[in-house]
Amino acid sequence: MKSLKVKDSEYDIKKAKILKAKMLTSMEKYFEIALPGGESLDHEPGQFVEVSLLGIGEAPISISSSPTKLGSFELVVRNVGKLTAALHKLEAGAEVGIRGPFGKGFPVRILEGNDLLFIAGGLGIVPLRSLINFVIDNRRDFGKVSILLGCKSPKDLLFGNELEQWGKRLDVNFNCTVDNADPDWKGNVGLITKLIPGIDLDPERTFGVVCGPPIMYKFVIKELVKKKIPDRQVLVSLERHMKCGLGKCGHCQINGVYCCQDGPVFSYDRIKNIPEAL
Ligand SMILES: Cc1cc2nc3c(=O)[nH]c(=O)nc-3n(C[C@H](O)[C@H](O)[C@H](O)COP(=O)(O)OP(=O)(O)OC[C@H]3O[C@@H](n4cnc5c(N)ncnc54)[C@H](O)[C@@H]3O)c2cc1C
Ligand code: FES
Repeated sequence: MKSLKVKDSEYDIKKAKILKAKMLTSMEKYFEIALPGGESLDHEPGQFVEVSLLGIGEAPISISSSPTKLGSFELVVRNVGKLTAALHKLEAGAEVGIRGPFGKGFPVRILEGNDLLFIAGGLGIVPLRSLINFVIDNRRDFGKVSILLGCKSPKDLLFGNELEQWGKRLDVNFNCTVDNADPDWKGNVGLITKLIPGIDLDPERTFGVVCGPPIMYKFVIKELVKKKIPDRQVLVSLERHMKCGLGKCGHCQINGVYCCQDGPVFSYDRIKNIPEAL
């Protein structure tokens, strides 16, 4: 049973201002947002905020920027329903409600000194980008860094310029694949799982950091197990329907595990025996 104690501040909705808004694809819109007075969001990579619009609703959205970015934070919103459609109509200067940050993010201190293999599918790059940019900004604190990114087609790729910069770095091994190429595409074609066997890694010191659509986890984790990465070193970020974000309403619960508070980031050994988790 979760504690019923909630800090007043966890219910507080801060009126935040959209500084920049732009469509990244036909479905995804990017927002740069500032809290009142430039207050820091003070988040960990992998955490989320509850975003609200008065009279419309509230939804959990991953924080996509690194905590090393000061004065504002970034979100990417896919237009799938009532609130997200309303958010897509907003431009710079508009206000949104923000609660949080919430949840357990990536265990950055544990990752320090180790090699990292990031595997992102589709919108999964949104929360992983927070950790990737944190690692890049603190590059000396981490070992080898590999990033594998997969999406349906080239037009679905988010953060094109930034991906290009990651690809140019000598201290990052970046590889990208699409399910369906177009005539201009020069990269890999096929599922992201195909890229994993080609990665040279030391399983003792590698953490696999995985985020993507539910179908992807099963196959990616199978490949990481083949690479002998221990279950406790495979980190996944899970999405569940949430309401309160505070461990109170039970909406996000899977067999006693509360995604909003115990996660959204879990190590695979914690959830591998919960059939509904992945
Ligand atoms: C930790 C976390 C991080 C997230 N990060 C992001 C992010 O970075 N970007 C992003 O775009 N989205 C993100 N999401 C997903 C986002 O919160 C949902 O898509 C949210 O429901 C959108 O709200 P809406 O009002 O626009 O859509 P809704 O009106 O809630 O509808 C969205 C879809 O979900 C279905 N649905 C709604 N409620 C339920 C329910 N109780 N059970 C089953 N199906 C239901 C609807 O039929 C519809 O298909 C995240 C979710 C979680 C849990
Ligand atoms: S969202 Fe309410 S308990 Fe997790």
